Amino acid sequence: MPDVNNAVMEFLHTRRSRPAKLLQAPAPDREALKPILTAAARTPDHGKLEPWRFIVLEKPALDRLARAVDHCGAETGRSEEDIAKARQQFADSPLCVAVIEVQKPSEKIPAIEQTYSAGAVCLALLNAALASGWGANWLSGWPSHDCDFCQSALGLVDNERVAGFIHIGTASAVPPERPRPDIDAITTWLDT
Ligand SMILES: Cc1cc2nc3c(=O)[nH]c(=O)nc-3n(C[C@H](O)[C@H](O)[C@H](O)COP(=O)(O)O)c2cc1C
Repeated sequence: MPDVNNAVMEFLHTRRSRPAKLLQAPAPDREALKPILTAAARTPDHGKLEPWRFIVLEKPALDRLARAVDHCGAETGRSEEDIAKARQQFADSPLCVAVIEVQKPSEKIPAIEQTYSAGAVCLALLNAALASGWGANWLSGWPSHDCDFCQSALGLVDNERVAGFIHIGTASAVPPERPRPDIDAITTWLDT
């Protein structure tokens, strides 16, 4: 029989994001964040391309990004509501890690597999933060898909895009459980 790691399975069966709105200081410092990033980078990656990197947004950077959202949102004609929601995401965050997908040239590994790997890094980072006792939430929002914002505010280049913003801090409350998928409804067992 396999050797079950019950603690890990218990974590995976009960893990739950903490909404960014509930996150406040303290957030992990650099020393506490390093093992979380190390765990996140231990992610399947076809061809060992490492098609991702991290940008850690500490408080002054988050304030700068909140201002950049205002500027970029006005330039692109977004509604006040959309701008305010996106600004809030950065202004209220105690700490955020931007997971950046970095497409690497490869004749063997399709671009989509590099995208999947970057998404997997986001989940691994979220789970590592939760398992370390922090509250964490994976968000996107229009700035993450806005090339001008990403290049001017985050310094991304042409082969890069934001896979996710992982906000990390101390959760002021635990959210109620949300409905989970019906495994029987989404699973097909093929035995022939
Ligand atoms: C790629 C991606 C982007 C997301 N972006 C947002 C977002 O911008 N705003 C939001 O409220 N939730 C967003 N979510 C959902 C949150 O992460 C949500 O809290 C999560 O689905 C809770 O999952 P859990 O309870 O299994 O941890 C996003 C999820 C993913 C996978």
